[in-house]
Amino acid sequence: MATNGTCNGFHSEKNIESSGSDVKPGSCVLLTGGTGFIGSHAVVEVVNAGYDAVVVDNLCNSNQDSIERVEKITGKTVPFYQVDILDSAGLREVFTRTDANDNIDGVKSHEPEETSVASVTSGTTGTTGSSVKPGSCVLLTGGAGFIGSHTVIEVINAGYRAVVVDNLCNSNRESIQRIERITGSTIPFYEVDILDTAGLRGVFARHQFSAVMHFAGYKAVGESYEKPFEYYMNNLQGTLSLLQVMKEFGVYNIVFSSSCTVYGAQQFLPADESHPTGNCNCPYGRTKYFIEQILYDICNTDKHWNAVLLRYFNPVGAHPSGLIGEDPLGVPNNLMPFISQVAVGRREKLRVFGNDYDTPDGTCVRDYIHVVDLACGHVAALKQIAADCNIKAYNLGTGVGYSVLEVLKAFEAASGKEIPYEIVSRRRGDVATIYGKPALAEKELEWKATRGLKEMCEDTWKWQSLNPAGYLTSENSELSKSQ
Ligand SMILES: NC(=O)c1ccc[n+]([C@@H]2O[C@H](COP(=O)([O-])OP(=O)(O)OC[C@H]3O[C@@H](n4cnc5c(N)ncnc54)[C@H](O)[C@@H]3O)[C@@H](O)[C@H]2O)c1
Repeated sequence: MATNGTCNGFHSEKNIESSGSDVKPGSCVLLTGGTGFIGSHAVVEVVNAGYDAVVVDNLCNSNQDSIERVEKITGKTVPFYQVDILDSAGLREVFTRTDANDNIDGVKSHEPEETSVASVTSGTTGTTGSSVKPGSCVLLTGGAGFIGSHTVIEVINAGYRAVVVDNLCNSNRESIQRIERITGSTIPFYEVDILDTAGLRGVFARHQFSAVMHFAGYKAVGESYEKPFEYYMNNLQGTLSLLQVMKEFGVYNIVFSSSCTVYGAQQFLPADESHPTGNCNCPYGRTKYFIEQILYDICNTDKHWNAVLLRYFNPVGAHPSGLIGEDPLGVPNNLMPFISQVAVGRREKLRVFGNDYDTPDGTCVRDYIHVVDLACGHVAALKQIAADCNIKAYNLGTGVGYSVLEVLKAFEAASGKEIPYEIVSRRRGDVATIYGKPALAEKELEWKATRGLKEMCEDTWKWQSLNPAGYLTSENSELSKSQ
């Protein structure tokens, strides 16, 4: 096959768009793991059926001799690349090859980029849970975002040092400056994507972390139906990349931003932590569920690890200073930022998705929690990690449900503004009522939400009215300087 010349079954732009109908004899098939037991036999049959075959394998459990034997059996040359499938750059090179003959003279090896982990880890000490105490340094991934930025403040208020990693895909660097203003502390900030394992290593080499609070991820339920691949890639692969670097540097403590979406449609109310998980109704929820499962598996097999899974209900509100708050890019997906943008005149009216649910006023009921309470819950989780908890899940909510129309009325009272609204059809993925039982967090973390709906609305309104367009206005830069 390779001697036939171009092997372009999976490499060209034309073929990127190719459909199943192009999969016919004469086309080119890539077999990952093609030197292994089953893969090598599959190569023979693929070639016998008239396809061109190309093999990628890192030889971690196989031998390159198998390719020569396959070639002997089939009488065809099989291009082989010793590439690890974790090495995206190496894979890209395989996919962009235009001529399979380029490679048949010898094995092309794409070693993963050499990062001198040994040298950068030499300064670290293999941190254990017992060192998670005030004065130690905590990494917050996604720390420039809504919940992360509020948590940085509470982490610092509790006496820890904080470092932020964020790729700013849904946030603004200005939030870091405002946190510094509120806390009077300098926050080391790294614009790094958590998928960039080498970039993360650079951060871990500079700081000795006692724990990681992992907020970074995509979070929109609706968008996750449209872009499931992006959600799995960013949330799952991003987390794996982070866990890999944590392990390399001996940082085994993680507080993970999970969600009540792991419960799916609730089988009983209020949901406590024993409620079944996994019956999620959207790809976003499944990413949270899968990450929880990964953490359970890791913690159960390696006792170095401690993980606290915080299942948030519906975070709203803002820091009482009005300096930081939720600043969604584009049309808000969540109720409170939508209402506040209507109140401030950025949007004409609120769209209420359905008023025919089985709830007192027909609109969806949710368990809203003030973001500052939520942030304090993370500090409480650090104490649990310090006690070598292994792995524990906690609901963080108030245990009280409010309907969309109740929130709307409360916001009108807090802002003094009338909020026009219209009822539209139900939104995909929404369930009628969600509220949780936060008793376990109260008992074991000694944490309890103290801020009610009135304070949630007042603080949201303060943030929104002081920052009508979010972080990005010259007006806001002045605000940042003057407070
Ligand atoms: N807000 C909610 O209603 C809610 C509810 C339950 C759980 N959560 C979870 O809490 C976490 C924080 O949510 P939020 O409301 O603050 O969202 P957010 O979008 O404001 O914050 C997430 C931050 O992560 C960053 N980020 C995303 N992908 C990244 C990547 N690959 N590398 C580096 N940075 C990346 C974004 O730029 C953003 O600053 C998320 O994991 C979310 O799924 C949020």
